[in-house]
Amino acid sequence: MTISPRDKNAPRDIDAPAIIAAKPDVTKPNTKKVFIKTYGCQMNVYDSERMADVLAPIGYAPTEEPDHADLVILNTCHIREKAAEKVYSELGRIRQYKEKNKPDMKVAVAGCVAQAEGAEIMSRAPVVDMVLGPQTYHKLPEMIAKVHRGTGDLLETEFDTLEKFDQLPELRQPKGFSSFLTIQEGCDKFCTFCVVPYTRGAEVSRPVAQVVAEARQLAKHGVREITLIGQNVNAYNGVGEDGNQWTLGQLIRHVALIGGIDRIRFTTSHPRDMDDDLIETLGSEPKLMPYLHLPIQAGSNKILSAMNRDHTYDHYKNLIAKIRAARPDIALSGDFIVGFPGETETDFQQTMKCVEEIGYGSSFSFKYSVRPGTPGAGLPRQVPEDIKQDRLVRLQALLYKQQHDFNLSLVGKTLDVLVEGRGRKNGQLFGRSPYLQGTHFDGPESLIGQIVKVKMTDAGRNSLIGDWVE
Ligand code: SAH
Ligand code: SF4
Ligand code: F3S
Repeated sequence: MTISPRDKNAPRDIDAPAIIAAKPDVTKPNTKKVFIKTYGCQMNVYDSERMADVLAPIGYAPTEEPDHADLVILNTCHIREKAAEKVYSELGRIRQYKEKNKPDMKVAVAGCVAQAEGAEIMSRAPVVDMVLGPQTYHKLPEMIAKVHRGTGDLLETEFDTLEKFDQLPELRQPKGFSSFLTIQEGCDKFCTFCVVPYTRGAEVSRPVAQVVAEARQLAKHGVREITLIGQNVNAYNGVGEDGNQWTLGQLIRHVALIGGIDRIRFTTSHPRDMDDDLIETLGSEPKLMPYLHLPIQAGSNKILSAMNRDHTYDHYKNLIAKIRAARPDIALSGDFIVGFPGETETDFQQTMKCVEEIGYGSSFSFKYSVRPGTPGAGLPRQVPEDIKQDRLVRLQALLYKQQHDFNLSLVGKTLDVLVEGRGRKNGQLFGRSPYLQGTHFDGPESLIGQIVKVKMTDAGRNSLIGDWVE
């Protein structure tokens, strides 16, 4: 791993420089292989890495080849119907392969579908040996032992977020130079369309000391960019080193003191929890990147209220004005749902107006998907599929144009790019700008892992192209 030199005397650093000679080898000789397939959000990406950390000491090495795996874990997402259904089709393929080629392969379903439909998975897909909800990953070794013994409960869906984090092993083997770090998990907001409060449980924040210890560990392994994640990351209220509850702003400023961490991001924020301290931190902390994902979901106050979002469009608009005043170059990102029950064309036009007035650098937009067990599922005036589709097409045309225009506005500018690896073409490198766009440019491989200056020469809707300057 190449780590660029840094100034050891930098006064802001509270740690030793993030340069280590070799990774400590605490794993047993890895005799078995685990293949983990990840669906859904960043938290699942983080959780998959943590499951790999739990499995390493009991002899499982990660593999990218499902065919050779002794253990296959599907880390699933329940957010929309399609996401959940994918799991069952994947399990069908696994069953066929296992029966024909590898009868001793073990299969686990983890993540939010596991939490929501655990017992159903066990009966609907007998190929599955064990089911683990998101708060139980520290129990994986025990579960695997039970599977091999053929006794014991193979369905774990208890909620104990803090116990999980206490018991996960400290060592992390991050893959690259940018890593997720969960600081808060669960959600108390209960938006009427959303399964997350049921699959991840109540909002729980990890203590500051635990977050800092993990961030240092990542830095030691060469990670230079950390994205602090949580379902409602800006509701963070973990216990600080002074015994008080800390805000996200305080935590960010503290993590920024860690030597080796050069970039910090956070996601996902809720408009209700966007406090002044965090907005000021966006304006004043140079390591915090100028990018904010702040979903509004819909522009109509009537729909926002039916969604139980607990904020109006005006509240959101005022927030954005404050944020832009604090950090004028901020790139905004949002989530949108079209076709929530009762959404009329007039309501939808309010979402279009919101997008026009706010202006987004990137976005995620979805057709409302009925989730059994959520209040939205029982609401009258469900919107027909063809109308949802039509609204999504119109909304995405506007959002994608804004995204492309934003990227084009960066052409001619020189931006800092964290080089993550090789690009698609020979001699090309790939990295990320401060605004999170993927950036392609030519340069030597020795730049991988460094933050370099790239002058942007062209822009597509999803990425930037540039020349390496220095
Ligand atoms: N606050 C969360 C949101 C998770 S869900 C976070 O930390 O990311 C991500 C997005 O999926 C939501 O913002 C919403 O736009 C979308 N979504 C959630 N439930 C949905 C549903 N039932 N149908 C369509 N989209 C949905
Ligand atoms: Fe879901 Fe709403 Fe919680 Fe986000 S804030 S996870 S959309 S319930
Ligand atoms: Fe999906 Fe669960 Fe994340 S439902 S979006 S994997 S919190």
